[in-house]
Amino acid sequence: MMYFSALLIILSLLSVPSGVYSGKILVYPVDGSHWINMKVLITELYSRGHNITVIRSSDNMYIKESPYYSYITVDMGEYNEKYWNNLLSVSLLMHRNEILPWNKIIFGVEVMKMFSEIHKQICNMTAKIFENETLMNSLQQANYDMLLADPAMGGGVLLAHKLGLPLVLNVRWTVLGESHFAIAPSPLSYVPVPGAELTDKMTFTQRVTNVLIYFMTNYQHSNYFGHHYKEFCQKYFGPDVDYFSLFQNADIWLMRNDFTFEFPRPTMPNVVYMGGFQCKPSSPLPDDLEKFVQSSGEHGVIIMSLGTLFGELIDDITDEIAAAFAQLPQKVIWRHTGPRPSTLGNNTLLVNWMPQNDLLGHTKTKVFVAHGGTNGIQEAIYHGVPILGLPLAFDQPDNLSRMREKGTAKVLDITNLDRSVFLEALKEVLYNPSYRENMQKLSQLHHDQPMKPLERAVFWIEYVIRNRGAPHLRTQSFRMSWITYHSVDVILTLLGVVMISGWIMFLALRCLCVTLIFKKKNKCE
Ligand SMILES: *[C@@H]1O[C@H](CO)[C@@H](O)[C@H](O)[C@H]1NC(C)=O
Ligand SMILES: *[C@@H]1O[C@H](CO)[C@@H](O)[C@H](O)[C@H]1NC(C)=O
Ligand SMILES: *[C@@H]1O[C@H](CO)[C@@H](O)[C@H](O)[C@H]1NC(C)=O
Ligand SMILES: *[C@@H]1O[C@H](CO)[C@@H](O)[C@H](O)[C@H]1NC(C)=O
Ligand SMILES: *[C@@H]1O[C@H](CO)[C@@H](O)[C@H](O)[C@H]1NC(C)=O
Repeated sequence: MMYFSALLIILSLLSVPSGVYSGKILVYPVDGSHWINMKVLITELYSRGHNITVIRSSDNMYIKESPYYSYITVDMGEYNEKYWNNLLSVSLLMHRNEILPWNKIIFGVEVMKMFSEIHKQICNMTAKIFENETLMNSLQQANYDMLLADPAMGGGVLLAHKLGLPLVLNVRWTVLGESHFAIAPSPLSYVPVPGAELTDKMTFTQRVTNVLIYFMTNYQHSNYFGHHYKEFCQKYFGPDVDYFSLFQNADIWLMRNDFTFEFPRPTMPNVVYMGGFQCKPSSPLPDDLEKFVQSSGEHGVIIMSLGTLFGELIDDITDEIAAAFAQLPQKVIWRHTGPRPSTLGNNTLLVNWMPQNDLLGHTKTKVFVAHGGTNGIQEAIYHGVPILGLPLAFDQPDNLSRMREKGTAKVLDITNLDRSVFLEALKEVLYNPSYRENMQKLSQLHHDQPMKPLERAVFWIEYVIRNRGAPHLRTQSFRMSWITYHSVDVILTLLGVVMISGWIMFLALRCLCVTLIFKKKNKCE
């Protein structure tokens, strides 16, 4: 009997790992900063024993060889990098010339055109895969369990359809804008469109702005980006396939945000929030950095990083920032790769790279000066450090406006920056305790959940592998026409019934009245 129960225990212990099914996952990522996030997922999937294959172009910037995955390289010449670099310099230029609204519009169109070019190139790359028979055969024979894609570019979605694979999206943007707008009801009365820098409490004029921006961005996106995919689908899938419904047909949407960041809004059963999945507890700092941090004493340290791509700001702005830092008793660690500012104070340490997560987790860190990029805001929420925001481009202003609304950040316009404005703002975030308190509260809310975001993401990926997709979680909404979706036909029919029965009743009553009056008249006479 003892043996038997011991055997049972051993058996049940052994059966635990058998629940972890090793899957074959095909990944179609987006290059650039999006890849950094995808890699976090891939690393975790690898550590759980999944076999991962990544599709990349020969001219990719960040997707390097790694023991975590095998890869398929599609030969694309030297295209990608040139365009990404162009895009970045135009975005920066746009900031410098922001004085005239007209220039802003011109640059906006220029940025759209460049993005359009990148989408075109993605379609071209996907076409190359489709038309390479050996490659397609090997993809088909590999028997993948699912495809993991970032739908900011549509390649992965198209390939998943072609191969008939379940599709999981690692998503914040689709080709047509913020991802919720693609699948969940999004009443424009309280769901601000990203880019409008609005909140969930809008005045009448703000609601007008929200609606206008919604239609404008929708038009721009489908006009500049959508048509590449439309042509692609026309050519390879036939006229019946609407490209955007291929996106909407995804099994699971792993959203890179959550409701500590987002305003409350309707969502869907196949949406899984994994905001902050890239965050980790901090590790101890390297000795020299720790010494510098400790030397700040009771004043603490300020850390500043404007991301990988915008490391070198324009000289005159860096001088102003350095001058403001020099007037503070705090120590400053500044990730800066450009020339040394002439006004640099002796409390400021310039570094080429810094362990951002470990610094944010350090108890002496008081303020994070950030541009609102991919990991910065999430890591600041994770560790509860208030932000002084200097947004530069893309969705960064909008990201920071959400933090400002929650009272966890102060946001400055980098084009009108001088030392006194910057110093004033820094002092406010440093000495007004509300910023820190609000951020700590937000951090607490972020941590108070049953499962870590990364575990949740991996659970749902494995769920799709185990169950060969999740079609029972997909709604029918996107298969409907506008009229059906909004029940316009039903409302019109019911309205018709009411009107016709009302008319009949009116006729009947009139008839009755006429007869009564007629009778009365007859009696009187
Ligand atoms: C993963 O799958 C590929 C393709 O089928 C195979 O070549 C490779 O050896 C596998 N890797 C592991 C670690 O099983
Ligand atoms: C990709 O683009 C190149 C250059 O624009 C063009 O020559 C080629 O035909 C395109 N390939 C496909 C498969 O569309
Ligand atoms: C097709 O794909 C195979 C395998 O990835 C590759 O070796 C070959 O060069 C490709 N052919 C063309 C024409 O791109
Ligand atoms: C740093 O500069 C301040 C004033 O600019 C000066 O008072 C202080 O002594 C300097 N500290 C060191 C360590 O040089
Ligand atoms: C804005 O925030 C979201 C959610 O945290 C993040 O996914 C996105 O990458 C951020 N934007 C930029 C430009 O980094």
